[in-house]
Amino acid sequence: MAERIFNFSAGPAVLPVEVLEKAREEMLSFGGIGMSVMEISHRSKHFEKVLHAAENGIRELLGVPENYKILFLQGGATLQFSMVPLNFLGSGETADYVITGAWGKKALKEAKRCGNTNVIFTTADEGFKSVPQQSDLNFTEGAKYVHYTSNETIEGVEFHYEPDGAGVPVVCDASSNILSKPLDISKYALIYAGAQKNIGPSGVTLVIIRDDLLAAVPENQHSMLDYRLLAENDSMLNTPNTWGIYIISLVCEWLRSKGGLDGIAKMNREKAAILYDAIDSSDGYYRGHAARDARSLMNITFRLPSEELEKQFCAEATAAGLDGLKGHRSVGGIRASVYNAFPKEGVTALTSLMADFAQKNG
Ligand SMILES: Cc1ncc(COP(=O)(O)O)c(C=O)c1O
Repeated sequence: MAERIFNFSAGPAVLPVEVLEKAREEMLSFGGIGMSVMEISHRSKHFEKVLHAAENGIRELLGVPENYKILFLQGGATLQFSMVPLNFLGSGETADYVITGAWGKKALKEAKRCGNTNVIFTTADEGFKSVPQQSDLNFTEGAKYVHYTSNETIEGVEFHYEPDGAGVPVVCDASSNILSKPLDISKYALIYAGAQKNIGPSGVTLVIIRDDLLAAVPENQHSMLDYRLLAENDSMLNTPNTWGIYIISLVCEWLRSKGGLDGIAKMNREKAAILYDAIDSSDGYYRGHAARDARSLMNITFRLPSEELEKQFCAEATAAGLDGLKGHRSVGGIRASVYNAFPKEGVTALTSLMADFAQKNG
């Protein structure tokens, strides 16, 4: 078998080897039933167990209170950009948006189709390098909700606190940092995430939604866009991504073996610190994109002295078995995505390369 390389992809991203091995082991006969989990009915008792394992795993890890439903939907985080306003922002009503990067901008674009939006804070003018303080957030009176992105994957900018909506329901796109650290779910009305970074494979979207929001879904909503109906049907209004949900159940098990979210958060802080130290001690050869207090622990973005050198750096990294370091096409530079499953040895391999490269090309 080919060696595994260090995969810095921003998503779909590296999965824990233990999870992949377990999935391989069970590929032909899931739990000894003589069929793959991909080959069984989503209504079977075998799959029911998988769904509950995934749901309970998420509930336990994040400490999701009883008055919240956990849904495994499709359409990616991108569909949530529309589903949130389609359910909770009527024409003539206002929702607040905090824009700290490209994904927040996309969410805003969809909300505008449904009602009024008020951008109460944006860092667009500075090129999305920071996040607001709680005291910078002045919510619109009567706003239906406030939406923000807890980690902007492209720019590498992360909130290191959980904003309080001061009575306005908080909706959060946590696609690229969910499960990377403990959260206080009671602070959110709705939190969602595409699975393909820290939760599992692409094709599943995790939505955690408070019961009072379910009650507020308008009558006559299209079925597949109706959170209430989806919740009433246990995420199985239609055929769910059974394979994806199975992998999520395994990822939850893996996270438990790592000490849960406290354990993984400690490892994430260590990994990110190694990389940011390499940037900070390079005498300006490597320049981090994000402001220090908003540096993402998941997506570490930085520049080199020129685009040519960035190209050369990526080529040398790939040749050394360090893949996926090219920054997003919209911002350029380098992006090292070091999600939960990314090994610390990959981080030190990158910092060694950085030191060598700067010495040779500085
Ligand atoms: C923060 C954030 N939001 C939304 C998305 C879009 O997710 P999806 O491709 O699942 O629709 C991404 C994808 O990378 C993301 O990083």
